[in-house]
Amino acid sequence: MTETSDLTSVRASYDAVAVEYARLVGTELARKPLDRAMLAAFAEYVRGDGVRGDEGRGGRAVADLGCGPGRVTAHLDGLGVRAFGVDLSPAMVAVARRTYPGLRFEVGSMTALDVADGVLGGVLAWYSTVHTPPAELPVVFAEFARVLAPGGHVLIAFKAGDERIRLEHAYGHPVELDVYWTPPDLVADLLAGAGLTEVARLVRGPDPRENSPQGFLLARKG
Ligand SMILES: C[S@@+](CC[C@H](N)C(=O)[O-])C[C@H]1O[C@@H](n2cnc3c(N)ncnc32)[C@H](O)[C@@H]1O
Repeated sequence: MTETSDLTSVRASYDAVAVEYARLVGTELARKPLDRAMLAAFAEYVRGDGVRGDEGRGGRAVADLGCGPGRVTAHLDGLGVRAFGVDLSPAMVAVARRTYPGLRFEVGSMTALDVADGVLGGVLAWYSTVHTPPAELPVVFAEFARVLAPGGHVLIAFKAGDERIRLEHAYGHPVELDVYWTPPDLVADLLAGAGLTEVARLVRGPDPRENSPQGFLLARKG
């Protein structure tokens, strides 16, 4: 996929808000038990506990794509997962490196990863596909499928619904961002189209600081 103007504005927007975003969402998972439950299940699958053919403690490497300030990468690391982060925004990657110096974070796009075919045990996309128009999700999910090893898992967190919300201000800064709320059935169908079979899904209601239902979809390659 070629660089689009949307990707340029997504990068610029997250560069602008990186420090404030990290301050505001850094400890958010602590008050979201259902989100942590999905991450715990994903971690258990990708660690490959007790599965023959894994690569020792932690299993294969797992990419947190659109990792932002690295808070979920660090959460996975705390669960024994060999996680690294990739984000479009250099400012987000700088925050992540500064906050978690023991972890690896790279600048890159989930639409064209610098990762060999079939090597990852897992891919996490935690609210990082929310700026991708649903029509472009097949390209992104095909890239996830390309880098996953057979039997590898993907976990997507997204805003569940069917809306496009235009953001012009966020976290105290002007931004230029579209946020796509996506029907869980559509996410499941598009993942299936990329060869990623649904394992489980969760849709929970918004907490007091959220404006939409939240969707979580776990799928497996093959
Ligand atoms: C809502 S934030 C979520 C960040 C992080 N996953 C978290 O939950 O804290 C969305 C992130 O996705 C990144 N992103 C959006 N499109 C991307 C792409 N094509 N490739 C890599 N990162 C992307 C943005 O730069 C931003 O850091």
